[in-house]
Amino acid sequence: MTADELREKYIKFFVSKGHARIEGKSLLPDNDPTVLFTTAGMHPLVPYLLGEEHPAGRRLVNYQKCIRTGDIDSVGDASHLTFFEMLGNWSLGDYFKEGAIEMSFEFLTSPEWLGIPLEKLGVTVFAGEGEVPCDDESAGVWKRLGIPENRIAYLPREDNWWGPAGSTGPCGPDSEMFYYVGEEPCGPDCKPGCSCGKWLEIWNDVFMQYNKNAGGVYEPLARKCVDTGMGIERTVTILNGRQSVYDTGIFAPIIAAIGAASGGCQYGEDPEKDRSMRIIADHVRSAAFILGDPRAVSPSNVGAGYVLRRLIRRAVRHGRKLTRATAGGENGLFLSPVAEVIVDQLKGPYPELEENRAFIINELDREEAKFLETLQKGEREFEKLLPNLLKDPRRIMPGRLAFKLYDTYGFPIELTEELAREQGMKVNRGEFDDAFKKHQELSRSQSGQVFKGGLGDQGEKAVAYHTATHLLHRALRMILGDHVAQKGSNITAERMRFDFSHGAPMTGEEIKKAEDIVNEQIRRDLPVSVEVMSIDEAKAAGAIALFGEKYETRVKVYTIGNSPEDFFSKEVCGGPHLERTGGMGKFRIQKEQSSSAGVRRIRAVLE
Ligand code: ALA
Repeated sequence: MTADELREKYIKFFVSKGHARIEGKSLLPDNDPTVLFTTAGMHPLVPYLLGEEHPAGRRLVNYQKCIRTGDIDSVGDASHLTFFEMLGNWSLGDYFKEGAIEMSFEFLTSPEWLGIPLEKLGVTVFAGEGEVPCDDESAGVWKRLGIPENRIAYLPREDNWWGPAGSTGPCGPDSEMFYYVGEEPCGPDCKPGCSCGKWLEIWNDVFMQYNKNAGGVYEPLARKCVDTGMGIERTVTILNGRQSVYDTGIFAPIIAAIGAASGGCQYGEDPEKDRSMRIIADHVRSAAFILGDPRAVSPSNVGAGYVLRRLIRRAVRHGRKLTRATAGGENGLFLSPVAEVIVDQLKGPYPELEENRAFIINELDREEAKFLETLQKGEREFEKLLPNLLKDPRRIMPGRLAFKLYDTYGFPIELTEELAREQGMKVNRGEFDDAFKKHQELSRSQSGQVFKGGLGDQGEKAVAYHTATHLLHRALRMILGDHVAQKGSNITAERMRFDFSHGAPMTGEEIKKAEDIVNEQIRRDLPVSVEVMSIDEAKAAGAIALFGEKYETRVKVYTIGNSPEDFFSKEVCGGPHLERTGGMGKFRIQKEQSSSAGVRRIRAVLE
């Protein structure tokens, strides 16, 4: 079964069960400082899992592009990926454990759908911890459907709990489905979690029961929800009887393109080269999707742009290893031909890749060329240091030398560590980090730094900032013109940040005017109302929509103003918002600066 077939089957099955098909969203989350990338299908749906009404109803299904960087250093083995596609179905206060498990079971085992033999399946349920009891209910449903007791593992929070990627948000116990990839289970009690390591997780049903609030307290949700996630790459792997995602039709054309770009490397001949090929395949997929996103960032030294740079640079380095091995050219650009294949392969489900093809290719070429220069210099310097380094019997490379490579040649620490590893050495990372901190303000440059707030934060202050964002957006369009479009926003309980397209710094006068206009709307204590309509109706009614965002057929439109005709602002938005603008506090712009080419960034507070 191909990824396209699986995607189609999944959607068709859940539509037949009364689910509305919704669009997947951007890889770069809007309004959420807790994560750099969309890490799961549930992520853009957080407000709805917390109680907002979704315009498409209470049963939803989609596929979502995701990036997880937590295991980035494991990429290169047979299974890890940073970019993957996730299939998901949701119940927003509709069915719960029984309904979710019954549908999962039917989709997995029915010959009409995936037709997985029962003896290949095992499941896990939450064993209970603290106030949350053992999930006997889910285990009971699995048993009734035919999963034997000895294939049900009861596991602790560490395994069977889905929590928010950031610090706050909806969460609860989950039940995961596994496929046995060996021949025969190794014993009568061989089940997921068994030390044989042959059970591969393919799907997760999460039973959302709590909201972890900004104070770290688990509040019961007013309506219980279901969130599920099935990894496409993994499921395609097992359905085709393969051991590794890289051995599937998903990766075959990408690996072939890498072979060609390298001047003839063959996959499956040498474990070291295979590892390089897998790293390139995964990293270029992630990079192509980040660059092909409507909210694309370019490689940079902060936030998502830094992760992108890291992915590209690591892929370049492995590309170079391959071309050296085949005596292929060192300066021919390696990544863009691979990206072309990825765009061709996935432009059907992700048309944004085709729309942004030229941008993807140009950015990859530019970053690759730039990095090749850096690499050549850095590697030469490392080789100069090597004879002395090898004299140390403990095989530890001093952190200050690694820092010097970074500081003088821009040579990334991850690569110094990799070069050191290849020589059987380790970098004194603590010492490097100390030196790094001394020279650089702690920035968001490292992925995974967690901030409070985000989509899961529905505290009063965060919601007020959300409403203030709409006021500011409209005020800027009044003052600067209709070319102003929201490029991103980022809210915590302490402040808001708003990125918008505009070619020049704002003048002091313009900033003052924007503050005055927003404060005037706060003073007027305008009501905020919401309506559901089609995206065309929304646009006809004068609503602003996010540029490049994909919308469902029916959307929510938030209006700030006295009536549907006499309004200050109208925007397509998921919410939530305040009921009125009064009492938000006084709006003040603290900073207005450049964010990237043609994009300005405002940081503002409500005092
Ligand atoms: N959000 C759940 C996961 O990603 C379904 O596993």
